[in-house]
Amino acid sequence: MTVTVTPSNTATPSSTATPSNADTEATLAELAEVAAKLDAANALAYTRERFLIPPNLVYLDGNSLGVLPAAVPAAVEDAVHRHWGNGLISSWFEEGWWDAPLRIGERIAPLLGAAAGQVVVGDSTSVQLFNTLMAAARLRPGRRVLLTDPAHFPTDAYLTDSVAGLLGLEVRRVPASEAPAVLAEIGGDVCVVSYPIVDYRTGELWDLPGVTRAAHGAGAVVLWDLCHGVGAMPIGLDEAEVDFAVGCTYKYLSGGPGSPAFSYAAARHQDTMQYPLTGWNGHADPFAMQDAYKPADGIARARIGTPPMLSLLSLEAALSAFDGVDLNELRAASLSLTGFFIECCDAALAELGFEVATPRVAGRRGSQVALRHRDAVRLVPELARRSVLCDKREPDVLRCGFNALYNTHRDALTAVRALRDLVG
Ligand SMILES: Cc1ncc(COP(=O)(O)O)c(C=O)c1O
Repeated sequence: MTVTVTPSNTATPSSTATPSNADTEATLAELAEVAAKLDAANALAYTRERFLIPPNLVYLDGNSLGVLPAAVPAAVEDAVHRHWGNGLISSWFEEGWWDAPLRIGERIAPLLGAAAGQVVVGDSTSVQLFNTLMAAARLRPGRRVLLTDPAHFPTDAYLTDSVAGLLGLEVRRVPASEAPAVLAEIGGDVCVVSYPIVDYRTGELWDLPGVTRAAHGAGAVVLWDLCHGVGAMPIGLDEAEVDFAVGCTYKYLSGGPGSPAFSYAAARHQDTMQYPLTGWNGHADPFAMQDAYKPADGIARARIGTPPMLSLLSLEAALSAFDGVDLNELRAASLSLTGFFIECCDAALAELGFEVATPRVAGRRGSQVALRHRDAVRLVPELARRSVLCDKREPDVLRCGFNALYNTHRDALTAVRALRDLVG
């Protein structure tokens, strides 16, 4: 069997005839050489040293919780001992704690393709989703439909239902690929169009500019959940004229467990949007302790309550892993990894009942590859015993996330070999 690997490619299935074990071993040996070449040619290889990866571990779960960045321990130590231990209350201003949600928002903005003044960090994705969805729906009074994804992540689905209940709206669930057609038909009734950039189960990348255009054509506003895209690819929020977006920071941004989420609101909405969570941090003059709420100007009104400062400072340090990284190069490296992984799966796992559930067309996948297998749930802990970490989604999906800042083609092949050893 001939192995062809073209980075950033369309990974096409290889021969359908069942190869012998010896054939597959020979193919895997060739793939090992290809992996070594691709890793040697990787322009981003230098960023792996920005992470503290446990020795001999193949970590393919950065789409759930990113690896610890090397800059984080010292920053957290400093925040605990110097800022908190010595500075105490004065650190709110002397160490820049108070401004951190806006300062770190500005650090995330380029990763979103957002100009300054549109991103703030704090609270969880769920809280940001609720706050933003309510504010978005209020911008289109009289329209009764929230259009969203039937396969959205559960927190998005639950909160959409909750917002619909509170505002007396109706939820329509159609896949993102069908949203433009539905909007052309019933768009005049739709207030908010709310989708994930990448499907959390299959890793499919949705057409953010296309769906946004269709929403605007119908007079609706859009809200994107960027959890599975931010830090893995360039995202052109301003260029696509997106209205709102939220996303977590503990996946590809590697901010740490529970690191706070971000919220993006396009500048053009900031004077009119009304967030329902009118916490004191978003007040125009928070330390005046006034009786009535008056929103701050700009994106600062998206602030809510006191943020988890240690997590926020951990995130800030983690973001230094992106210093100097060209996002187009990052995307190319990510597609090379996922394309190569699919190629390895085709060569070594297809005959063992594994099916690639992620689109093979490069432009339609995020940075994870989902494999369907009837034993997916059982395989995850068995892989972990072989030092390969990935995760599962019931009933039959195994998710392998690739962070091009630290994963290698060798990791991809090692995971495939481990799966073959377990199932073959
Ligand atoms: C698409 C998506 N949205 C939201 C969340 C989680 O939200 P929270 O940060 O509030 O737990 C996840 C978590 O994996 C997710 O994948």
